[in-house]
Amino acid sequence: MMSPHGRPVSLGAAPAKGRLKAELGALKRLAPYLWPRDCVDLQVRVVLAAIFLIAGKLANIFVPFLYKYAVNALSPAKGSSGLVVVPVALIVAYGLARVSSQGFNELRNAVFAKVGQRAVRRLTLAAFRHLHTLSLRFHLERRTGGLARAIDRGGAAIEFLLSFMLFNVVPTIFEILIACAILWRLYGWRFAALTLSTMLLYIAFTFAVTDWRIRLRRDMNERNTEANTRAVDSLLNFETVKYFANEDHEARRYDEALSGYERAAVGSQTRLAWLNIGQGVIISMGLVGIMLLAAEGVGQGRMTVGDFVLVNAYLIQLYTPLGFLGVVYRNIKQSLADLEQMTALTAIRPEIEDAPGVPAVDVQRGAIEFRGVHFGYDPRRPILRDLDFVVPEGTRVAIVGPSGAGKSTIARLIFRFYDVDRGAIEIDGANIRAVTQESLRRSLGVVPQDAVLFNDTILYNIGYARPGASRAEIEEAARLAAIDEFVASLPRGYETIVGERGLKLSGGEKQRVAIARVILKAPKILIFDEATSALDSVTERAIRANLAPFLAERTTLVIAHRLSSVLDADHILVLDSGRIVERGRHEELLARGGVYAEMWARQQKKARRQAPLAAE
Ligand SMILES: Nc1ncnc2c1ncn2[C@@H]1O[C@H](COP(=O)(O)OP(=O)(O)O)[C@@H](O)[C@H]1O
Ligand SMILES: [Mg+2]
Repeated sequence: MMSPHGRPVSLGAAPAKGRLKAELGALKRLAPYLWPRDCVDLQVRVVLAAIFLIAGKLANIFVPFLYKYAVNALSPAKGSSGLVVVPVALIVAYGLARVSSQGFNELRNAVFAKVGQRAVRRLTLAAFRHLHTLSLRFHLERRTGGLARAIDRGGAAIEFLLSFMLFNVVPTIFEILIACAILWRLYGWRFAALTLSTMLLYIAFTFAVTDWRIRLRRDMNERNTEANTRAVDSLLNFETVKYFANEDHEARRYDEALSGYERAAVGSQTRLAWLNIGQGVIISMGLVGIMLLAAEGVGQGRMTVGDFVLVNAYLIQLYTPLGFLGVVYRNIKQSLADLEQMTALTAIRPEIEDAPGVPAVDVQRGAIEFRGVHFGYDPRRPILRDLDFVVPEGTRVAIVGPSGAGKSTIARLIFRFYDVDRGAIEIDGANIRAVTQESLRRSLGVVPQDAVLFNDTILYNIGYARPGASRAEIEEAARLAAIDEFVASLPRGYETIVGERGLKLSGGEKQRVAIARVILKAPKILIFDEATSALDSVTERAIRANLAPFLAERTTLVIAHRLSSVLDADHILVLDSGRIVERGRHEELLARGGVYAEMWARQQKKARRQAPLAAE
């Protein structure tokens, strides 16, 4: 499923032959869950379920026999006076056999449920963990909803396949074979052959017609989605439709999609009718055939009326579960496809993996060094070229430059979301590729350019930095990030839910939550990526003053657009189109009269123009 660059390839439908293999491969992955090695409790359940399964089937086999004996007892024996004794015991036994067959089935389901559900839990958890190991690149290329759905469907598929394959398909095949064997033994091979061939014909017919229907149903679903998309898109563009007075045009487009659905739905219904008729004809033919054979046997005195009833009851008992065969077949196919898709996801190798046996990094000083770093998201478009710089321990280094220069990319590379194409990034002299990713990321902190929050409380979002942090620690971090007053003004305070991705907070509030979060983490190295861009300069200065003691003993890399935020940096790098074009302290750069001086002049002029209007 991978291209050489570790990029995911479409998970769409594979060609039919490879598909069957992939489906079987997916099915094989389920096997260990049927016999969970490390869990005796579940093994006991599997054994019990198997026992109940067999008991249920045995009871089921008895039912027609009891029926037969009851019928025979009721038929007046030849030459007798015609007096009939009611076979109460047989009828009661008949009822008991039926009830126990059903009871065993239910017991089996109840006992097995935990095995199935545990398999679902383990496999979906493994898939979820795996998704977190995959690269940022992978996730940026995928729709998150699609991934969640793939896991969800995969889980449902596991459950369906386990319980249906095990308790429906396999036992039904057994039951058919046992019934045939009994018929053969009791009444001769012709009964068995007729039953078996009717079954095979029935199954083959059902599969063929269902395949034929699946195609139409897919078409139907696509049409339905299309109609939906058109309706939604049209309503979203309500104003545009009015501007152009195009209501009729919209209605026509919608109706086109609807008529496609109509056609497909009618076709599907018709095919269902054909399926049902065909199944009915096959079963009736089989029944008639076997009843003729039995009638012949009764006529010749080889069989009793009870036998006649027995073969009929047997066949009906066998056919009844097959009524769902079309649905079962369709669901099995769908489940196999879903399972295969989930398996394909878990088979994707992460783009960035720890080299085997690498140590954890132990950041003591917190120095960062870029040495001849080249990088591009796409090999055809370099973003960073030949980057060389050092952030010495305990200093504050700023990166400034126009939007799109590659500043945020530098932050992502330090976190090793991507590997550099050439050169090396070192932390305290260790190449970040030669240490574990987990230890690397634990020793770094970032306030990202677009902070995104979990749809949970403010308390949870700040505390996320260090699970187990006390409430007092969280509140202290909030105070340093100058968000405490805002939180106090909220009716629910720290318990306020921030909305999906934090959308209920303003940009500046989100940034301050993100700052509080990184303060709580308190790593040796901090990266602020335009972390205060949405704040006014008064709040920004307040945060800077609060943080001064905290940052004094730490290494900070500040990415900023607003140059007034980096005046006091120990060193400023000016980045343009992925290259460092100037470097030095603020005064030095101003004196040079280059790109930086020009940016400074432009921003000063703008600030003066806006001064009477805003706090800036
Ligand atoms: N995931 C990505 N895939 C491809 N190109 C990207 C990706 N992220 C950023 N870029 C491109 O890389 C360039 C640098 O982006 P970035 O580092 O975010 O710039 P900035 O200096 O504004 O922070 C931009 O031209 C952007 O379009
Ligand atoms: Mg950026």
